[in-house]
Amino acid sequence: MTTQVKKICCLGAGYVGGPTCAVIAYKCHDIDVTIVDLNEARIDAWNSDLLPIYEPGLDKIVFERRGKNLFFTTQVEQAVIEADLIFVSVNTPTKKSGLGAGFAADLAYVESATRKIANVAKSSKIVVEKSTVPCRTAESMRTILEANSNENIRFDILSNPEFLAEGTAITDLLSPDRVLIGGLQTPDGIRAQQALVEVYAHWVPTDRIITTNLWSSELSKLAANALLAQRISSINALSAICEATGADIDEVAYACGRDTRIGPKFLKASVGFGGSCFQKDILNLVYLSEQLNLPEVAAYWKQVVDLNDYQKKRFVSHIIKTLFNTITNKKIAVLGFAFKKDTGDTRESAAITLCKDFIQENAKVRIYDPKVSTEQIFFDLSAPGVDDHESLNKRVTIAKSAYEASEDADAIVITTEWDEFKELDYTKIYEKMHKPAFIFDGRLILDAEKLRNIGFRVHTIGKDFINRC
Ligand code: UDX
Ligand code: UDX
Ligand code: ADP
Repeated sequence: MTTQVKKICCLGAGYVGGPTCAVIAYKCHDIDVTIVDLNEARIDAWNSDLLPIYEPGLDKIVFERRGKNLFFTTQVEQAVIEADLIFVSVNTPTKKSGLGAGFAADLAYVESATRKIANVAKSSKIVVEKSTVPCRTAESMRTILEANSNENIRFDILSNPEFLAEGTAITDLLSPDRVLIGGLQTPDGIRAQQALVEVYAHWVPTDRIITTNLWSSELSKLAANALLAQRISSINALSAICEATGADIDEVAYACGRDTRIGPKFLKASVGFGGSCFQKDILNLVYLSEQLNLPEVAAYWKQVVDLNDYQKKRFVSHIIKTLFNTITNKKIAVLGFAFKKDTGDTRESAAITLCKDFIQENAKVRIYDPKVSTEQIFFDLSAPGVDDHESLNKRVTIAKSAYEASEDADAIVITTEWDEFKELDYTKIYEKMHKPAFIFDGRLILDAEKLRNIGFRVHTIGKDFINRC
């Protein structure tokens, strides 16, 4: 008989756990969903009018179900005790020190969450690994849980990686391309898998719910992100060739993407991919390959990240070269700080690397982003080893609009593809800038011809850099 899930607990109220479980509550009124976090401020925000995450459509869903079958609390133990199914959706940053530093995922939070479940559970649970983790993490979780189970309590482990992208999380969750659920292929494992299938089947067509073994599920998450990021690095590598030859990267991407075997998505050249997943997951894959004694495989995937770093450096060098080989004391307006549009998240954002480089070159950086807070920008730019706060304050200011940021600027650098940057009154902006006025479009969103007619010198990634220099 299938276990019917009545109460779900989610450990971790972050970018993944929060939206995912809010959507489950929205679609499954017969299930109580409690999202817990150790971070009290974060939980308070989830319980307030101003949610801790900006994500289009999220407010509506949370406000509609909160207090009915959706709850946010720091009472971890109580929520674990009551739940039949527990999502583990805690952070898994790249390790900063020790074995695998810079590559491997730090599993301390996953382990501590697992131990918490083992210690407080008074009845059987299905434990679902939701955080992106290296292959075979479920095995470690299982070992910890089994060592703590007895004849009255059993734990079944599932892997259910999340494929949502930030900025489109709610639509991704409401109509996913697929839901992936990995489990042990034993009668108990299959029964647990089926219980979770039934939760998603409330709104996801069953032919989109894929069930696999545990390891395939874990590896698929890393693989999917690596394949997506690899497409961006491939198109970015081609953008360098375009700049050197006069081909246009948008035209090349369009021509290639029309081949149905290739497809049009994830072929937009840019200043480099960011976000909490791509780099971290690829480095996990590199580490895994090395551990498995597959150095050629490790080198292949590592190149995707190396190319991404190269793309950012290449863009900065081009900017400096174009601004007559020095940006010392020049004003650079940086438009966009989030790693992509429609999110306030800055993790691994290309803008961070760019701004740090501009600061190192003694430029005056004026940043505007519609969703990222001043505190967050200063936090990201004052990471250890970069700058102390005092000198940072001399070099960096935050503007309230794109107009304010570009006043008296020598150059505008587009780092995030926010829609509002397409609609600005560039004639007005041009009038208030130093001349010659430069625009460097790192996102390929602006109409270069139109801007040139106003008087701007426009440089777009993957387009005629050479001819314009
Ligand atoms: C290729 C391009 O597909 C075609 O558009 C271009 O015009 C010429 O080059 P072709 O080499 O004839 O065509 O065959 P293709 O089907 O692309 O296969 C090339 C090789 O890749 C074959 O050895 C095939 O077995 C292999 N392959 C293809 C795989 O190993 N896996 C796949 O998923 C697809
Ligand atoms: C990604 C995956 O898409 C998602 O499935 C997974 O669950 C988490 O990681 P996310 O990082 O939120 O999602 O955003 P995504 O849309 O994938 O963009 C990642 C980065 O790539 C952004 O910096 C974006 O600007 C960049 N990008 C994306 C490009 O530069 N070009 C593209 O064509 C697409
Ligand atoms: P993601 O993007 O993967 O969702 P986040 O960093 O946004 O990652 O969120 C992870 C959340 O998990 C954080 O808010 C953190 O406080 C929380 N967390 C970490 N460990 C535990 C734990 N043992 N129990 C509950 N919450 C935890």
